[in-house]
Amino acid sequence: MKWPATRLESQAGKSFGMFETAARLQAQGADIIHLEVGRPSADTPRHIKEAAKTALDNGIVHYGELNGLGPLREALAHRFSETQGVHFDADEVLITNGVTQASFAAFMAALDEGDEVIVLEPFYPQHNSKIAFAGGRVVSVPMAQHDGRFSPDPARIEAAITERTRMLVLINPSNPCGTLFTREELQAVADVVEKHDLLVLSDEVYEFIAFDGHQHTSFAALPGMRDRTITVNAFTKAYAMDGWRIGYAIAPRNFIADLQRVTMNETTHPCVFAQEGALAAVTGSQDCVTDMVREDRERRDVVVARFNAIPGCHCATPEGTIYAFPNISGLGASSSEVAMYLLERAHVAVESGAFYGDTGEGHLRVCFGSEPMPRIEEAMSRIEQALTGGNTPW
Ligand SMILES: Cc1ncc(COP(=O)(O)O)c(C=O)c1O
Repeated sequence: MKWPATRLESQAGKSFGMFETAARLQAQGADIIHLEVGRPSADTPRHIKEAAKTALDNGIVHYGELNGLGPLREALAHRFSETQGVHFDADEVLITNGVTQASFAAFMAALDEGDEVIVLEPFYPQHNSKIAFAGGRVVSVPMAQHDGRFSPDPARIEAAITERTRMLVLINPSNPCGTLFTREELQAVADVVEKHDLLVLSDEVYEFIAFDGHQHTSFAALPGMRDRTITVNAFTKAYAMDGWRIGYAIAPRNFIADLQRVTMNETTHPCVFAQEGALAAVTGSQDCVTDMVREDRERRDVVVARFNAIPGCHCATPEGTIYAFPNISGLGASSSEVAMYLLERAHVAVESGAFYGDTGEGHLRVCFGSEPMPRIEEAMSRIEQALTGGNTPW
């Protein structure tokens, strides 16, 4: 029987990159060090788990509010208003199953067939597949690059705008590049957005993972951007809660109402006791985040220094996120060849930069947050040996 789901064609042949090959080798008994997936190595902090357990014990097991737990929405609206200096009410927050559902709902709600969405390249491929799924057309605009640091290029963005352009997607701090865009860089994008009357989806899932005093600015906090921006975020990275699937969208209430029309048709609302855990995450001590970010920074420093010591590699210092994006073009092979070689030879899984678009070619994406320090050091020794031992096939 032929299924009539033409939407699925946008997903045809989509690969999850190195992850599948790494999983296959591991199943054959190889000791793979996983630096290809963006998954925190830490356990979820204890007080967050306890809150979810208590909720379960107290019978928080039934349907909840469609837009999410009231006190959680209150706490998120309050925190956003406090930290970013732009006011949102609790009914301008929608609790979702991660950024994944929040962004999917935004694309489904906002896009008509053929609407164009600008993404900055190197991009996060999962946004692109959602845009296509929702009937939109991805228009990929290369970022500017200075010394390995990627940043938005307002002139290129403006040149890509047509009468079908509906939305711009920003990821700040950037996966895969590790850049934390400055307020000035964001303002230059905001000027283009305002001039062409675009919507913005601002993915801020790495908001709290910022190093060396770099400050995160939410796009919605820029003058005039509050009412055209859907900010999507989650507990995924900063609280090591990727498996909990709790995220949120913050946007003007008319947008939130439209997003909710999508999410209520998918999951009604996210798991109620997981939301109680998330509430403890926002309202409790933030020391767990500070500790995790400190460990991330230590691991970042090892990865950056050791890549920079390998001839043919140059690694800019990530300002945020859990990713380094070393330029390996001096090695004389494509990024897919290098990534596959490292996986097969050194049993270290990293992602090929080409997975993030043509602009990513010549780079690797290396997640330094997904393994504890001794494994990161071991991975870097294996990488060094594989790349400098004179045995490379290119
Ligand atoms: C930029 C970006 N957005 C969204 C996600 C997915 O977030 P979630 O697990 O909260 O759905 C990730 C996960 O790696 C990401 O890197």
